[in-house]
Amino acid sequence: MKSKLVLFAVLATAAAPAFAAGDATKGEAVFKQCQTCHSAVDDAGNIVAGKGAKTGPNLYGVFGRQVGSYPGFKYGESIVAAGKTGLVWDEASFVDYVQDPSNHWKTVLGDKGAKSKMMFKVKNAAVAEDVYAYLVQFSPNAGAAAAPADPAAAAPADPAAPATTP
Ligand code: HEC
Repeated sequence: MKSKLVLFAVLATAAAPAFAAGDATKGEAVFKQCQTCHSAVDDAGNIVAGKGAKTGPNLYGVFGRQVGSYPGFKYGESIVAAGKTGLVWDEASFVDYVQDPSNHWKTVLGDKGAKSKMMFKVKNAAVAEDVYAYLVQFSPNAGAAAAPADPAAAAPADPAAPATTP
């Protein structure tokens, strides 16, 4: 009996997508620190996260968006250079970035002089994962890796998807 339960737990863990690591509720609390500079404002102009601050770029739809590309925002050079290489925000890049934005561009661009205009760091990867879990809710184009938490939205099978041969 006990071993069955253990097996089930293992299977359930294996089936859970990687992005489930973060806790959106904790992430919402962390976002209070981000909202001094950032908001998430949807396409209709509704503020869905934060209080309307614009010191940092709009984080609505940031996952699946090209790095440093929110229209009208005056980004620093490094993030723009990185975006031009075709980088798009995803969980992994976000988690690394928010722990040390300037260092992130140094690594990504291989340029010791790279820096970020964002003067803020989260404490560790776990905190970053929590903020990710919160923010990804406001990124409708986050892509397969961040597929909807709402099973109904995930339901329609994509007819174009290649059949998986067992
Ligand atoms: C003190 C203000 C400030 C705070 C606090 C802050 N940011 Fe930023 N953020 C910025 C600025 C400014 C930029 C633009 C960076 C650049 O141009 O190099 C930015 C950029 C970003 C980007 C890149 C967006 C894009 O369009 O490419 C992400 C993602 C981001 N911030 C997330 C966060 C998160 C999550 C937090 C909280 C954990 C946070 N920021 C806290 C000011 C801030």
